[in-house]
Amino acid sequence: MITFENIKVVYDEFVAIPDFNLEIHEGEFFSFLGPSGCGKSTALRTLAGFIAPTSGSIRIDGKDVTYAHASKRGIGMVFQNYALFPSMNVRDNIEFGLKMQKLPKAEISERALKAARQVSLTDEQLGKQISELSGGQQQRVAIARALVMEPSILLLDEPLSNLDARLRKQLRVQLKEIQSEVGITTVYVTHDQEEALSMSDRIAVLNEGRIEQVGTPTELYEQSETEFVCNFLGEVNPLSDAQIHELNNQGARLSPEHSHYIRPERLTVQSDSMPAAGGDLRLPATIIGESYLGDHTVLEVDAMDTSLRVNVPSRDRVAFNGRDHTLVLDDSAISSYDANGRRVATR
Ligand SMILES: Nc1ncnc2c1ncn2[C@@H]1O[C@H](COP(=O)(O)OP(=O)(O)OP(=O)(O)O)[C@@H](O)[C@H]1O
Ligand SMILES: [Mg+2]
Repeated sequence: MITFENIKVVYDEFVAIPDFNLEIHEGEFFSFLGPSGCGKSTALRTLAGFIAPTSGSIRIDGKDVTYAHASKRGIGMVFQNYALFPSMNVRDNIEFGLKMQKLPKAEISERALKAARQVSLTDEQLGKQISELSGGQQQRVAIARALVMEPSILLLDEPLSNLDARLRKQLRVQLKEIQSEVGITTVYVTHDQEEALSMSDRIAVLNEGRIEQVGTPTELYEQSETEFVCNFLGEVNPLSDAQIHELNNQGARLSPEHSHYIRPERLTVQSDSMPAAGGDLRLPATIIGESYLGDHTVLEVDAMDTSLRVNVPSRDRVAFNGRDHTLVLDDSAISSYDANGRRVATR
């Protein structure tokens, strides 16, 4: 288990992290998620031992490592640019750390082979130069080079951000597979919410050096505790005063003092010719735009002079031509936040 206790990190005068408290469990795939400059890399590098905190402590399996040297923490790290040695072949890159430790030759090559297998690098690839590999293969070399040291914790700082979107999606599946097979506690840094949601057991959402919320992907998305998390994760529609007023006329109890949001997939559009179904709240709606995205279609809907985004399965969209429509929603789908951005119960 990893524990951050009251960790404060200051760069010159700038307080990057004021007071960081977190527990990461054994074997967990844990992500730091947040916008650029929120302190993700700072938190990770403090755990790795590259940055000394101003105050607070870090424990790994109960042992205080706050001031331990990076090499004594049992940590393997993979960076955004991989930091591979371009003049060495794949095998030499993987073996590098073990050679530095002057281990027996046979042990070095045995452990390198094992690490290569863990990330599915072939024997043929082991003899290649780094420049002969694709971005995705290089990334696996970087992970093998970290795993070969048999760390108890693997840290990855935006390891996919240099790759194109398609490869990134493939590799996040592979990375997750490697992690669950090896079973190693992993801390992953990303600003990509889809990446964090799809890979993580739990996520901490960071904002200006502070943790907004820690939870499973589902908890964060469906029960965002703060307005920041609600807005940062996926798409969300703020409800306008006129919409709030109309919903309250129908029995909702939405305080005008609070901000209210609904996610695009929690709204349904009905043609007025269709029989009323589901949901207890309604808004008059005119479809003003449509973007077809294959599996789903995004409708831009005008409801009382404010547009809302609605996601519908593409196969359902044929029903929405011309005429008047109604947006149907359930009041449990509305998330409400007070002036401090904290979640409030609406019922
Ligand atoms: N060496 C440094 N000296 C001074 N300020 C720094 C230093 N490193 C980071 N910062 C500042 O600390 C804050 C957090 O930086 P950090 O690199 O941890 O953010 P991040 O969440 O990793 O961002 P990104 O997604 O862009 O990588 C930023 O405001 C940054 O400008
Ligand atoms: Mg960073």
